[in-house]
Amino acid sequence: MSEAIRALGEPAAAEGSQPCEVDFDAVVKVYPGGVRALDRVDLRIAEGEYVTVTGPSGCGKSTMLHLAAALDVPTSGTVRIGGRDLSAIPDLSSFRRNQVGLIFQLHNLIPGQPIIANVEAVMFGTHRSGHERRNRAMELLARVDLAGREHRLPTQLSGGERQRVAIARALANEPRLLLADEPTGSLDPAAADLVLQLFERVRRRGVTIVMVTHDPGIARLADRTIYMREGRIVEPGL
Ligand SMILES: Nc1ncnc2c1ncn2[C@@H]1O[C@H](COP(=O)(O)OP(=O)(O)O)[C@@H](O)[C@H]1O
Ligand SMILES: [Mg+2]
Repeated sequence: MSEAIRALGEPAAAEGSQPCEVDFDAVVKVYPGGVRALDRVDLRIAEGEYVTVTGPSGCGKSTMLHLAAALDVPTSGTVRIGGRDLSAIPDLSSFRRNQVGLIFQLHNLIPGQPIIANVEAVMFGTHRSGHERRNRAMELLARVDLAGREHRLPTQLSGGERQRVAIARALANEPRLLLADEPTGSLDPAAADLVLQLFERVRRRGVTIVMVTHDPGIARLADRTIYMREGRIVEPGL
């Protein structure tokens, strides 16, 4: 991949030489206290697929996303991302920084820092110089229609704008996998629509997307919807 394309953002879909599908094999997650949040989940998500995950509150959606992001480890079973068993990766924080983009319902921005600094922060420790980090953060914010507002604090933006910053931040290190946990859950319909349009653009770049949502209308936008219930993947309508 040329440096010029890198600088522009995510690589084009055709360049997806690096597989980054999600592969859960008999994954069980039991939390301390005994809650069985995932009960032998088998799941394969192909590279470039856009998948939504839906199901009642408490069925294990967030747990599944956290395991895919290597934020937590399974009790048993195997989680592979791009063919790599997460339990065999020595530096998970580097893996997370470089391979996955994460977006939560509440944006998790650093409140005391301007949004440009929030986006730059996730690029520390990468190959980019300070100057490159600044340029890239400016460009990412422009891409989510926040040009001119780079020096605002998160509190000086609307919920939808903050979530767009979270998306810019999640894309900063060109992840091949974007994981989003109810990213529109706290937004009004117009703001949610803008966020979903951004996901659509990301999808066209060939990035694999897994999005948890309660909203059946949003779930339908994906290539495939996974239904969960009581820690298991079930057929729709069950
Ligand atoms: N850190 C935790 N400690 C103990 N129990 C948890 C923890 N996180 C989630 N749970 C429990 O695991 C189950 C699945 O939770 P979660 O994955 O957050 O569901 P969802 O995202 O579908 O609402 C729930 O019963 C929840 O209470
Ligand atoms: Mg959840």
